[in-house]
Amino acid sequence: LNNGLAQTPQMGWNSWNFFACNIDETVIKETADALISTGLADLGYVYVNIDDCWCPTRNFEGQLVPDPIAFPSGIKALADYIHGKGLKLGIYSDAGAFTCQVRPGSLYHESDDAKLFASWGVDYLKYDNCYNLGIPPKERYPPMREALNVSGRTIFYSICEWGVDDPALWAGKLGNSWRTTDDINDSWASMTAIADLNDKWAAYAGPGGWNDPDMLEVGNGGMTYQEYRSHFSIWALMKAPLLIGCDVRNMTAETFEIVSNEEVIAVNQDPLGVQGRKVNVSGPDGCYQVWAGPLSGDRWAVVLWNRCSKANTITATWEALGLKSGVSVSVRDLWQHKEVAVDAVSSFGAQVDAHDCRMYMFTPHTTSLRNIA
Ligand code: GLA
Repeated sequence: LNNGLAQTPQMGWNSWNFFACNIDETVIKETADALISTGLADLGYVYVNIDDCWCPTRNFEGQLVPDPIAFPSGIKALADYIHGKGLKLGIYSDAGAFTCQVRPGSLYHESDDAKLFASWGVDYLKYDNCYNLGIPPKERYPPMREALNVSGRTIFYSICEWGVDDPALWAGKLGNSWRTTDDINDSWASMTAIADLNDKWAAYAGPGGWNDPDMLEVGNGGMTYQEYRSHFSIWALMKAPLLIGCDVRNMTAETFEIVSNEEVIAVNQDPLGVQGRKVNVSGPDGCYQVWAGPLSGDRWAVVLWNRCSKANTITATWEALGLKSGVSVSVRDLWQHKEVAVDAVSSFGAQVDAHDCRMYMFTPHTTSLRNIA
């Protein structure tokens, strides 16, 4: 969508994966504080997004009313607080009669709700798909687009239709991102399955609108350090939104190390905006995988991803990457933060532990040798 937003994938935090309905204004404010004090905000994590359960009811005028116990100061005050820190506030509603947790939905209230969000200073709307009365998403998502357009505020529009009706084919002109799959959960099985589903739609992502394979589970406890590192690397490579889903007030050092990796974030935020793809598989069930994509400056991001249960060498060939066989590249390891080869030619491989990945930046020595096809 050409509304000036999402030139690179959105980065920030969302309450759902860790807190579910256990949210209040203290949690949201403390999260904003933590994004600042940890330095994550400076790395680009600027959206502070409230998910479902903030709003139990409408008032007699039909306006959404924040939960008076959880959000006694109201959303406007919260937005002011968040903006005072240089951050942006996101909110949540649903293109149906109710949200997924059976709070009021915005279907047929689009104009009033968009105006209200704008008047509060909301910067981002995640718009969900529950209780949709069987009406196709293609019909329910445009009215909120129109309502946001005339709301008087530029609001990021995150379309959350769970991949129903192949949104990559129609949501690009409506929203800044669209979900390509069902909800993620904090497990290796869910994360890997979602990565594969999201990969199919790579061609449709780009500046202004991104495929959304759902929010990060890094730090929530259901995966190992290696699995979370794979999750973050692949999400970054796929130009997925980087929305942290853990309690950033209480991150372990490992969690922080993963989500604060500036070199991996730079791949995600690269101005070229091309979604990296799975380019080669080998081994049992194709579990030795090479994922890669082009970056600005003729560079390439390459992930060697071992989805098998044993360590193995995984090799990226120039053929799989679409590079001419004679091109020579320097290879930088984005997790070890060092150059690991000065002039690799025709292929580059490394040992990768089970459920782990290695992530590299390839910089060609002679850009004219690159095969752009
Ligand atoms: C749906 C969405 C989730 C989350 C929940 C909240 O399942 O896909 O991301 O917003 O609703 O109820």
